[in-house]
Amino acid sequence: MSLIRGRFDKEADESVIAYSESISYDHVLYPYDIMGSKAHVSMLAKQGIVTEKEAKQIIDGLDKVLKELDEGTFKFDKDLEDIHISIEARLKELIGPVAGKLHTARSRNDQVALDIRLYTRAMIEETLIKIHELQKVIVAQAEKNKGVMMPGYTHMQLAQPVLLSHHLMAYFEMFDRDYQRFADAYYRVNISPLGSGALAGSPYNVDREWVAEQLEMDGVTQNSMDAVSDRDSILDYMSAAAICMMHISRMAEEIVLWTTNEFGFMELDDAYTTGSSIMPQKKNSDVAELGRGKTGRVYGNLNRMLTIMKGLPLSYNRDLQEDKEGLFDTVETLLLSLDVFKGMLETATYKPEAMKRSLKNDAILATDMADYLVMKGLPFRDAHRVVGQIVNYAQHHKCGILSLPLEKYKEFCELFEEDVKKINVSYSIRSRNITGGTAPVQVAKQIRLAKNYLAKREI
Ligand code: ARG
Repeated sequence: MSLIRGRFDKEADESVIAYSESISYDHVLYPYDIMGSKAHVSMLAKQGIVTEKEAKQIIDGLDKVLKELDEGTFKFDKDLEDIHISIEARLKELIGPVAGKLHTARSRNDQVALDIRLYTRAMIEETLIKIHELQKVIVAQAEKNKGVMMPGYTHMQLAQPVLLSHHLMAYFEMFDRDYQRFADAYYRVNISPLGSGALAGSPYNVDREWVAEQLEMDGVTQNSMDAVSDRDSILDYMSAAAICMMHISRMAEEIVLWTTNEFGFMELDDAYTTGSSIMPQKKNSDVAELGRGKTGRVYGNLNRMLTIMKGLPLSYNRDLQEDKEGLFDTVETLLLSLDVFKGMLETATYKPEAMKRSLKNDAILATDMADYLVMKGLPFRDAHRVVGQIVNYAQHHKCGILSLPLEKYKEFCELFEEDVKKINVSYSIRSRNITGGTAPVQVAKQIRLAKNYLAKREI
């Protein structure tokens, strides 16, 4: 017999049970549900709402249920709807009617809101650790490949030379912003809704702050109607996850590109590649492609959650039960992606020779030549036009822009002097000696700062 159908003459229809159960997925909330229940019943005893003896019986019973769940001996039953009812029903079997006192001064509405917050808090902690680990690998690769020069691209066209370390450290920055977003979400999630009851609060003399303290939460929610129907902490996690997956996906795209025969800038370790079922020569970057593809489901989950919340009247509505599967899927996808990309990056090797080959086309130094003329006193727009003409000339004569004799340069602009010959790839990189620039000293500084920052970070 259901715990909550006292006012009905009939049991729910089979189809309704299938439609409304969530135990098949919300069982992952059990550690948080039990943690919350134990804190709640301890508070009920402290406030004299239940006796110490009753609280002890309930807590011991909850520990037994926890053990069964941990050991996989717990029997799930779809008739029992969700994890909250399932645990309470098992508690009743184990300790008898006193189990019924656990739900005093509480509703499933504030209970599930709490469970979701505790779960999300734990997952934020894991996510932060994994982002941190990935950032460490990025810095290590940047350091290992110090001095390697490569073409930088805009519009996927050769643009200006940069250091490979500079390129890699760009990802450090992206993942750092992700780290900050998750860390920020932590402060909002770590607030206890318990005591909100079904929607209006509780008529008992509960000590909400004390429960929050027991759960190591930073405070209590200030409006019961908002508290039982707010799922912003899920949206915070999902939005941060969507942005983080977007960064993973950008990295994935470059891995796919860089490991092609045409680029050849990077080689993946065999452990992070797959073969083809038909073409024996293939070493495919499926793992990176999957990261790119899985970004779609994380975006989809965010969209689904936003759509569930849109237009939802106050306060709790059962629509909210649909919040969980997307969240669990996003968490699983993101944590796994962070692990996989960390390993893939850590074991990858970069190919300086291939990068050097791409730098052979010296038109990549056209901007440096324009800057050279500017430093000789020519307005930039004129310098841009002059060098454009030199690029055009060199193309027609099938030579590099740096291979012309000084007299030829002078035909384009009188300001050219012998020192134009100093322009080369390494000169170009060294000259961008400004905070955030690609000059070796600047990149070394970025790496040094990043290492210090990671070492000091408390996680
Ligand atoms: N399984 C439900 C959920 O996830 C728990 C809350 C049920 N509350 C209710 N009023 N039916 O939302």
